[in-house]
Amino acid sequence: MKQLSVENLLGIKYLNKTDLELIFETASHFKEVINRPIKKVPSLRDITIANLFFENSTRTKLSFELAEKRLSADVINFSAGQSSVKKGETLIDTVNNILAMKVDIVVMRHASVGAGIFLSRHVDAKIINAGDGTHEHPTQALLDSFSMREALNSNLKGKKIVIVGDVLHSRVALSNIFALQLQGAEVKVCGPTTLIPRYISSLGVQVETDLKKALAWCDVANVLRVQHERMDIKYFPSTREYTQLFGINREILDSLHKDIVIMHPGPINRGVELTSDVADSKQAIILNQVENGVAVRMAVIYLLAQQIKRA
Ligand code: CP
Repeated sequence: MKQLSVENLLGIKYLNKTDLELIFETASHFKEVINRPIKKVPSLRDITIANLFFENSTRTKLSFELAEKRLSADVINFSAGQSSVKKGETLIDTVNNILAMKVDIVVMRHASVGAGIFLSRHVDAKIINAGDGTHEHPTQALLDSFSMREALNSNLKGKKIVIVGDVLHSRVALSNIFALQLQGAEVKVCGPTTLIPRYISSLGVQVETDLKKALAWCDVANVLRVQHERMDIKYFPSTREYTQLFGINREILDSLHKDIVIMHPGPINRGVELTSDVADSKQAIILNQVENGVAVRMAVIYLLAQQIKRA
Protein backbone atom coordinates (compact mmCIF):
# COMPACT_ATOMS: atom_id res chain seq x y z
CA MET A 1 0.00 0.00 0.00
CA LYS A 2 1.22 3.52 -0.88
CA GLN A 3 2.23 5.69 2.09
CA LEU A 4 2.87 9.38 2.71
CA SER A 5 6.55 10.39 3.05
CA VAL A 6 5.75 12.25 6.30
CA GLU A 7 4.59 11.06 9.75
CA ASN A 8 2.57 14.23 10.52
CA LEU A 9 0.89 16.90 8.37
CA LEU A 10 2.62 20.02 9.66
CA GLY A 11 2.76 21.99 6.41
CA ILE A 12 2.75 21.58 2.63
CA LYS A 13 6.45 22.56 2.79
CA TYR A 14 7.22 19.05 4.08
CA LEU A 15 5.31 17.17 1.34
CA ASN A 16 6.45 16.10 -2.12
CA LYS A 17 4.52 15.80 -5.40
CA THR A 18 3.92 12.07 -4.89
CA ASP A 19 2.33 12.81 -1.49
CA LEU A 20 -0.03 15.34 -3.12
CA GLU A 21 -1.06 12.90 -5.86
CA LEU A 22 -1.67 10.16 -3.25
CA ILE A 23 -3.83 12.53 -1.17
CA PHE A 24 -5.85 13.63 -4.24
CA GLU A 25 -6.33 10.02 -5.43
CA THR A 26 -7.49 8.96 -1.95
CA ALA A 27 -9.74 12.05 -1.64
CA SER A 28 -11.41 11.22 -4.99
CA HIS A 29 -12.30 7.80 -3.58
CA PHE A 30 -13.69 9.34 -0.37
CA LYS A 31 -15.65 11.95 -2.34
CA GLU A 32 -17.46 9.09 -4.04
CA VAL A 33 -18.08 7.49 -0.59
CA ILE A 34 -19.60 10.66 0.93
CA ASN A 35 -22.00 10.96 -1.98
CA ARG A 36 -23.41 7.45 -1.38
CA PRO A 37 -26.66 6.99 0.58
CA ILE A 38 -24.53 5.46 3.40
CA LYS A 39 -21.71 7.97 3.75
CA LYS A 40 -19.61 6.12 6.29
CA VAL A 41 -16.79 3.56 6.10
CA PRO A 42 -15.47 1.45 9.01
CA SER A 43 -11.77 2.15 8.21
CA LEU A 44 -10.76 3.87 11.49
CA ARG A 45 -12.90 2.06 14.08
CA ASP A 46 -9.81 1.58 16.28
CA ILE A 47 -8.55 5.19 16.06
CA THR A 48 -9.24 8.08 18.47
CA ILE A 49 -8.80 11.67 17.30
CA ALA A 50 -8.71 14.88 19.36
CA ASN A 51 -9.59 18.16 17.66
CA LEU A 52 -7.85 20.94 19.60
CA PHE A 53 -8.93 24.41 18.53
CA PHE A 54 -7.11 27.24 20.31
CA GLU A 55 -8.41 29.72 17.67
CA ASN A 56 -11.89 30.21 16.25
CA SER A 57 -13.05 28.09 13.32
CA THR A 58 -16.27 27.12 11.60
CA ARG A 59 -15.37 25.28 8.38
CA THR A 60 -12.13 23.54 9.40
CA LYS A 61 -13.40 22.31 12.78
CA LEU A 62 -16.70 20.96 11.43
CA SER A 63 -15.03 19.52 8.34
CA PHE A 64 -12.42 17.60 10.37
CA GLU A 65 -15.07 16.32 12.77
CA LEU A 66 -17.28 15.12 9.94
CA ALA A 67 -14.33 13.55 8.09
CA GLU A 68 -13.34 11.66 11.27
CA LYS A 69 -16.90 10.46 11.87
CA ARG A 70 -17.29 9.36 8.22
CA LEU A 71 -14.19 7.19 8.80
CA SER A 72 -15.78 5.76 12.03
CA ALA A 73 -13.04 7.15 14.32
CA ASP A 74 -13.82 8.07 17.94
CA VAL A 75 -13.71 11.87 18.21
CA ILE A 76 -13.18 14.29 21.10
CA ASN A 77 -13.37 18.06 20.70
CA PHE A 78 -11.62 20.78 22.65
CA SER A 79 -12.05 24.55 22.35
CA ALA A 80 -9.58 26.69 24.31
CA GLY A 81 -12.25 29.19 25.34
CA GLN A 82 -14.03 26.67 27.62
CA SER A 83 -10.90 24.87 28.87
CA SER A 84 -8.27 24.91 31.65
CA VAL A 85 -5.97 26.85 29.28
CA LYS A 86 -7.78 29.83 30.81
CA LYS A 87 -6.35 28.72 34.20
CA GLY A 88 -2.77 28.91 32.89
CA GLU A 89 -2.15 25.31 31.76
CA THR A 90 0.67 24.98 29.17
CA LEU A 91 0.13 23.59 25.67
CA ILE A 92 2.24 20.48 26.40
CA ASP A 93 0.39 19.79 29.66
CA THR A 94 -2.99 20.24 27.98
CA VAL A 95 -2.08 17.90 25.14
CA ASN A 96 -0.40 15.26 27.35
CA ASN A 97 -3.52 15.16 29.54
CA ILE A 98 -5.62 14.58 26.45
CA LEU A 99 -3.19 11.94 25.15
CA ALA A 100 -3.42 10.09 28.50
CA MET A 101 -6.97 9.28 27.34
CA LYS A 102 -5.33 7.15 24.55
CA VAL A 103 -5.59 9.52 21.61
CA ASP A 104 -3.85 8.52 18.35
CA ILE A 105 -4.14 11.68 16.24
CA VAL A 106 -4.29 15.36 17.24
CA VAL A 107 -5.75 17.96 14.88
CA MET A 108 -4.68 21.37 16.13
CA ARG A 109 -5.37 25.01 15.24
CA HIS A 110 -3.26 27.51 17.17
CA ALA A 111 -2.45 31.23 16.90
CA SER A 112 1.31 30.62 17.23
CA VAL A 113 3.44 29.97 14.16
CA GLY A 114 5.05 26.52 14.46
CA ALA A 115 2.76 25.26 17.25
CA GLY A 116 2.18 21.96 15.43
CA ILE A 117 5.91 21.48 14.78
CA PHE A 118 6.63 22.14 18.47
CA LEU A 119 3.96 19.66 19.55
CA SER A 120 5.18 16.95 17.17
CA ARG A 121 8.58 17.04 18.93
CA HIS A 122 7.10 16.63 22.41
CA VAL A 123 4.13 14.27 22.18
CA ASP A 124 3.61 10.73 20.99
CA ALA A 125 0.70 11.17 18.57
CA LYS A 126 0.28 12.11 14.94
CA ILE A 127 -0.22 15.84 14.49
CA ILE A 128 -2.30 17.50 11.78
CA ASN A 129 -1.89 21.27 11.51
CA ALA A 130 -5.33 22.88 11.10
CA GLY A 131 -3.76 26.37 10.84
CA ASP A 132 -0.85 27.84 12.82
CA GLY A 133 -0.94 31.64 13.03
CA THR A 134 0.13 33.27 9.76
CA HIS A 135 2.25 30.25 8.76
CA GLU A 136 0.48 27.28 7.12
CA HIS A 137 -3.00 25.80 6.68
CA PRO A 138 -2.11 22.64 4.77
CA THR A 139 -5.53 20.96 4.50
CA GLN A 140 -7.00 24.23 3.12
CA ALA A 141 -4.35 24.27 0.37
CA LEU A 142 -4.98 20.59 -0.39
CA LEU A 143 -8.72 21.11 -0.72
CA ASP A 144 -8.11 24.26 -2.79
CA SER A 145 -5.87 22.38 -5.26
CA PHE A 146 -8.30 19.44 -5.37
CA SER A 147 -11.14 21.90 -6.14
CA MET A 148 -9.13 23.73 -8.83
CA ARG A 149 -8.31 20.42 -10.55
CA GLU A 150 -11.99 19.48 -10.46
CA ALA A 151 -13.14 22.89 -11.80
CA LEU A 152 -10.51 22.96 -14.58
CA ASN A 153 -10.90 19.22 -15.28
CA SER A 154 -7.12 19.03 -15.46
CA ASN A 155 -4.03 18.82 -13.34
CA LEU A 156 -2.48 22.21 -12.53
CA LYS A 157 0.74 22.00 -14.60
CA GLY A 158 1.09 25.31 -16.45
CA LYS A 159 -2.15 26.73 -14.97
CA LYS A 160 -2.09 30.34 -13.83
CA ILE A 161 -3.31 31.05 -10.31
CA VAL A 162 -3.54 34.48 -8.68
CA ILE A 163 -3.90 34.82 -4.91
CA VAL A 164 -5.66 38.13 -4.18
CA GLY A 165 -5.70 40.22 -1.02
CA ASP A 166 -4.18 40.02 2.45
CA VAL A 167 -1.24 37.73 1.68
CA LEU A 168 0.79 39.07 4.62
CA HIS A 169 -1.48 37.62 7.32
CA SER A 170 -2.53 34.53 5.40
CA ARG A 171 -1.58 30.94 6.21
CA VAL A 172 -3.79 29.90 3.27
CA ALA A 173 -1.55 31.85 0.85
CA LEU A 174 1.72 30.23 1.89
CA SER A 175 0.31 26.69 1.87
CA ASN A 176 -1.32 27.35 -1.52
CA ILE A 177 1.95 28.67 -2.98
CA PHE A 178 3.84 25.53 -1.89
CA ALA A 179 1.08 23.18 -3.15
CA LEU A 180 0.63 24.95 -6.49
CA GLN A 181 4.35 25.09 -7.22
CA LEU A 182 4.71 21.35 -6.46
CA GLN A 183 2.10 20.76 -9.17
CA GLY A 184 3.83 22.99 -11.75
CA ALA A 185 1.34 25.89 -11.64
CA GLU A 186 2.40 29.52 -12.09
CA VAL A 187 1.53 31.70 -9.10
CA LYS A 188 1.10 35.45 -8.76
CA VAL A 189 -0.12 37.47 -5.80
CA CYS A 190 -2.13 40.68 -6.05
CA GLY A 191 -2.95 43.12 -3.27
CA PRO A 192 -1.87 46.36 -1.60
CA THR A 193 1.95 46.42 -1.34
CA THR A 194 1.57 46.78 2.43
CA LEU A 195 -0.14 43.37 2.51
CA ILE A 196 2.42 41.54 0.34
CA PRO A 197 5.32 40.06 2.36
CA ARG A 198 8.80 41.16 1.22
CA TYR A 199 10.04 37.53 1.00
CA ILE A 200 7.42 36.60 -1.62
CA SER A 201 9.72 36.97 -4.66
CA SER A 202 12.25 34.61 -3.02
CA LEU A 203 9.53 31.93 -3.32
CA GLY A 204 9.39 32.44 -7.11
CA VAL A 205 6.04 34.25 -6.90
CA GLN A 206 5.43 37.40 -8.96
CA VAL A 207 3.59 40.43 -7.61
CA GLU A 208 0.90 42.28 -9.60
CA THR A 209 -0.69 45.33 -7.98
CA ASP A 210 -3.27 45.94 -10.76
CA LEU A 211 -6.25 43.67 -10.05
CA LYS A 212 -7.61 43.77 -13.61
CA LYS A 213 -4.24 42.73 -15.09
CA ALA A 214 -3.94 39.92 -12.54
CA LEU A 215 -7.42 38.61 -13.34
CA ALA A 216 -6.84 38.89 -17.11
CA TRP A 217 -3.69 36.74 -16.67
CA CYS A 218 -5.13 33.95 -14.52
CA ASP A 219 -7.22 30.79 -14.86
CA VAL A 220 -8.16 30.87 -11.16
CA ALA A 221 -8.37 33.69 -8.58
CA ASN A 222 -8.14 32.50 -4.98
CA VAL A 223 -9.37 35.48 -2.96
CA LEU A 224 -8.29 35.92 0.66
CA ARG A 225 -10.11 37.44 3.60
CA VAL A 226 -8.85 40.74 4.97
CA GLN A 227 -7.71 39.57 8.44
CA HIS A 228 -8.58 42.61 10.55
CA GLU A 229 -8.03 40.59 13.75
CA ARG A 230 -4.31 40.16 12.92
CA MET A 231 -3.77 43.86 12.07
CA ASP A 232 -2.32 46.02 14.83
CA ILE A 233 -1.68 48.96 12.45
CA LYS A 234 -3.54 50.37 9.41
CA TYR A 235 -2.37 48.64 6.19
CA PHE A 236 -4.69 50.61 3.86
CA PRO A 237 -6.53 53.92 4.28
CA SER A 238 -10.09 52.50 4.43
CA THR A 239 -12.11 49.39 3.67
CA ARG A 240 -13.89 51.41 0.94
CA GLU A 241 -10.58 52.11 -0.81
CA TYR A 242 -9.47 48.47 -0.44
CA THR A 243 -12.69 47.32 -2.09
CA GLN A 244 -12.37 49.85 -4.91
CA LEU A 245 -8.87 48.60 -5.78
CA PHE A 246 -8.91 44.91 -4.81
CA GLY A 247 -12.58 43.87 -4.46
CA ILE A 248 -13.89 41.58 -7.22
CA ASN A 249 -17.25 42.61 -8.66
CA ARG A 250 -19.36 41.57 -11.65
CA GLU A 251 -18.24 44.54 -13.74
CA ILE A 252 -14.54 43.64 -13.56
CA LEU A 253 -15.26 39.95 -14.28
CA ASP A 254 -17.42 40.84 -17.32
CA SER A 255 -14.66 43.12 -18.65
CA LEU A 256 -12.28 40.11 -18.90
CA HIS A 257 -14.37 38.43 -21.65
CA LYS A 258 -13.36 35.01 -20.30
CA ASP A 259 -14.59 32.86 -17.42
CA ILE A 260 -12.10 32.51 -14.59
CA VAL A 261 -12.72 30.36 -11.51
CA ILE A 262 -13.30 32.31 -8.27
CA MET A 263 -12.37 30.76 -4.93
CA HIS A 264 -12.37 31.91 -1.32
CA PRO A 265 -11.37 29.87 1.76
CA GLY A 266 -14.02 31.61 3.90
CA PRO A 267 -15.22 33.26 5.97
CA ILE A 268 -15.98 35.95 3.33
CA ASN A 269 -16.29 39.64 4.13
CA ARG A 270 -19.17 40.09 1.65
CA GLY A 271 -18.95 43.37 -0.22
CA VAL A 272 -15.25 43.75 0.66
CA GLU A 273 -13.29 40.98 -1.10
CA LEU A 274 -16.18 39.79 -3.28
CA THR A 275 -19.57 41.29 -4.05
CA SER A 276 -22.45 38.94 -3.26
CA ASP A 277 -23.36 38.48 -6.95
CA VAL A 278 -19.81 37.18 -7.57
CA ALA A 279 -19.64 35.04 -4.41
CA ASP A 280 -22.97 33.41 -5.30
CA SER A 281 -22.31 33.09 -9.06
CA LYS A 282 -21.60 29.93 -11.09
CA GLN A 283 -17.98 31.07 -11.47
CA ALA A 284 -17.46 30.82 -7.70
CA ILE A 285 -16.72 27.32 -6.36
CA ILE A 286 -16.68 28.33 -2.69
CA LEU A 287 -19.19 25.70 -1.52
CA ASN A 288 -17.49 23.02 -3.68
CA GLN A 289 -14.33 23.84 -1.70
CA VAL A 290 -16.23 23.18 1.53
CA GLU A 291 -17.63 19.88 0.20
CA ASN A 292 -14.19 18.78 -1.01
CA GLY A 293 -12.69 19.70 2.37
CA VAL A 294 -14.39 16.70 3.98
CA ALA A 295 -13.07 14.24 1.37
CA VAL A 296 -9.55 15.71 1.46
CA ARG A 297 -9.42 15.61 5.27
CA MET A 298 -10.69 12.01 5.22
CA ALA A 299 -7.79 11.22 2.88
CA VAL A 300 -5.17 12.89 5.08
CA ILE A 301 -6.45 11.25 8.28
CA TYR A 302 -6.80 7.84 6.61
CA LEU A 303 -3.28 7.93 5.15
CA LEU A 304 -1.65 9.00 8.43
CA ALA A 305 -3.67 6.43 10.40
CA GLN A 306 -2.30 3.66 8.14
CA GLN A 307 1.14 4.33 9.68
CA ILE A 308 -0.04 3.65 13.24
CA LYS A 309 1.23 0.28 14.39
CA ARG A 310 -1.05 -1.75 16.64
CA ALA A 311 0.55 -4.06 19.25
N1 CP B 1 -11.10 28.39 5.81
C1 CP B 1 -11.01 28.34 7.16
O1 CP B 1 -9.97 27.99 7.74
O2 CP B 1 -12.17 28.69 7.78
P1 CP B 1 -12.43 28.60 9.38
O3 CP B 1 -11.53 29.64 10.01
O4 CP B 1 -13.89 28.85 9.56
O5 CP B 1 -12.01 27.21 9.82
